[in-house]
Amino acid sequence: MSEPFVPIRIAVDARRLSEGEALRFRLLLDGVEREAFAVRFRGRVHAYLNVCRHQLQPLDFGDAHFFDEAYDALVCCHHGARYAPETGECVSGPCRGSRLTALALEEQDGALWCLGRRESPGPPPR
Ligand code: FES
Repeated sequence: MSEPFVPIRIAVDARRLSEGEALRFRLLLDGVEREAFAVRFRGRVHAYLNVCRHQLQPLDFGDAHFFDEAYDALVCCHHGARYAPETGECVSGPCRGSRLTALALEEQDGALWCLGRRESPGPPPR
């Protein structure tokens, strides 16, 4: 049985997360501290656990750099798995067809909060 998730504020001012930028954060999920990230892509913010589905490595080198120059996918720095920013689905690479663990976000009074796992693929906040 999973423990109730305690929402965490990941940004004081969500507007400061500009298009194409990302921020890394940590959260306690099911009693385990995990790394995660949020990115703004085409105006919306999306968040995922920072765990590639190929070999369970972080997608980035710790530098919050998740996009390549084509700016159409989140790219794992290890073996090049490419994930759709809006859904977390791996669209090419060694774990094609798998999916990043999506996190639910909510904007309150301008701040950005993580509410834990995103159970359904509803629209993230703008
Ligand atoms: S660990 Fe991400 S593609 Fe291999």
